[in-house]
Amino acid sequence: MHGVNLDQLERRDPAHYGGITFRQLEQAIDGFAGELGLDARFFQTNSENEFVEHLHRVRDVADAILVNAGAWSHYSRAIGDALQLAGLPAVEVHLSDVMAREAWRHVSVLSDSCIATVMGKGVDGYREALAALNSELGG
Ligand code: DQA
Repeated sequence: MHGVNLDQLERRDPAHYGGITFRQLEQAIDGFAGELGLDARFFQTNSENEFVEHLHRVRDVADAILVNAGAWSHYSRAIGDALQLAGLPAVEVHLSDVMAREAWRHVSVLSDSCIATVMGKGVDGYREALAALNSELGG
């Protein structure tokens, strides 16, 4: 699940986001999932409301959640509550090293509902996150 502004990845600072397109990111994730024998489903929105609504339904379509909620990660208690409500193993990913950036990015209101957080590893962070979810699911 990708949150706000991730769809604009190719327009964002390449120093933080590596200059890849959102499509390339999703293709890479699909490839990593395939290597692990997992079936990846994708969801991106810039609407916090839609993100919360998707979390309410996610149990119907998934066994685990890989989440990069973008800036919402740092302040949306509504998404934090909905992630907890989803009741599935979740891993939080950030392409950039948020701890090396502005102070407001150092806080995550999602991490309490996640089994792990991966940050600063770019696209490869998603491979690590999927591997963690796969182990959690007994794979
Ligand atoms: C991000 C980091 C957030 O601080 C930022 O608001 C994003 C992307 C990342 O992937 O590094 O939109 O989650």
